[in-house]
Amino acid sequence: MEIKKIGILTSGGDAPGMNAAIRSVVRYSLYNKIEVMGIFRGWWGLINEELKVLDHRSVSGIINQGGTILKTARCPEFHSDEGKKRAYETLKKNSIDGIIAIGGNGSFEALHEFYKKYQVPCIGIPASIDNDVNGIDATIGADTAINTALAAIDNIRDTATSMERIFVVEVMGREFGFIALTVALAGGCEEVIIPERKFDLQAICHDIVEGNLRGKMSWIIVVAEGAGHAEDIAKKITEMTDLETRTVVLGHVQRGGRPTALSRDLALNYGKAAVDCLLRGETNKAVGLYCNKIVTIDLEVATQKKELKIENLYHLVKILT
Ligand code: F6P
Repeated sequence: MEIKKIGILTSGGDAPGMNAAIRSVVRYSLYNKIEVMGIFRGWWGLINEELKVLDHRSVSGIINQGGTILKTARCPEFHSDEGKKRAYETLKKNSIDGIIAIGGNGSFEALHEFYKKYQVPCIGIPASIDNDVNGIDATIGADTAINTALAAIDNIRDTATSMERIFVVEVMGREFGFIALTVALAGGCEEVIIPERKFDLQAICHDIVEGNLRGKMSWIIVVAEGAGHAEDIAKKITEMTDLETRTVVLGHVQRGGRPTALSRDLALNYGKAAVDCLLRGETNKAVGLYCNKIVTIDLEVATQKKELKIENLYHLVKILT
């Protein structure tokens, strides 16, 4: 089937670099004589026909902006048969031959479900600060979020060292410990608590007390949101050690900001790769970086639970403390 017009949407949590991906899809499509319709607010926009033609100029000046000009949303309605039917009708009515969806796990699940029901040519572009898309090494935005969290941890270290305090810093990542583990290593943090590894607070407190006896008075403990709450952990540490603690929840700060060069380059390459897939007649796939190459993988694979290879990194955090 010849692709003459595509729809593009961003869905789920925004990630820095989504705009660069939109720019790439729009301009590379136009270069290949394919028209592009922007679909606003993710799947909601497809159900409610909130569309706009995107031309070359409409993606000017967005390469360096976080967030997404197309807006994004989580849309439970799309999981119903009625929601998908209305989305399909919007595509037919507007003569849209294929969809490119930019998002994370949840967005890919929705795309996959839609494909199974209506066989509309579709390609996913992985974008999520969590880096939790299975089968690939990097999602758009993860590098930016890590650098944002790292900058915060570097700042916290200044005050933690000066006032000789214990800090528990909570980072995002849903059920995946990638952000926590990566920033704990890069930030030289003393401890990291992630969902993939059972943690022993007694042992952590023992290390803190032993450290104190040796004169090591400040600690930064990074906790992934999927493994626990900073406030609860800090309270228990104080109870167990009789030492003062402070907490920081980095929260949505990690989702915003100017995308790093890595997030942008990934986005620009993924955008081109996604359009190429549709041109080659590939569908029901996601593009992604794997071992330094842009590859395509089945959405069936991309939507499975990703396993985080933690052991080497976790031990390195501990060895280097
Ligand atoms: O998936 C990205 C993410 O930022 C997660 O790290 C976090 O758990 C979630 O989204 C927060 O979602 P919301 O912005 O809907 O609260």
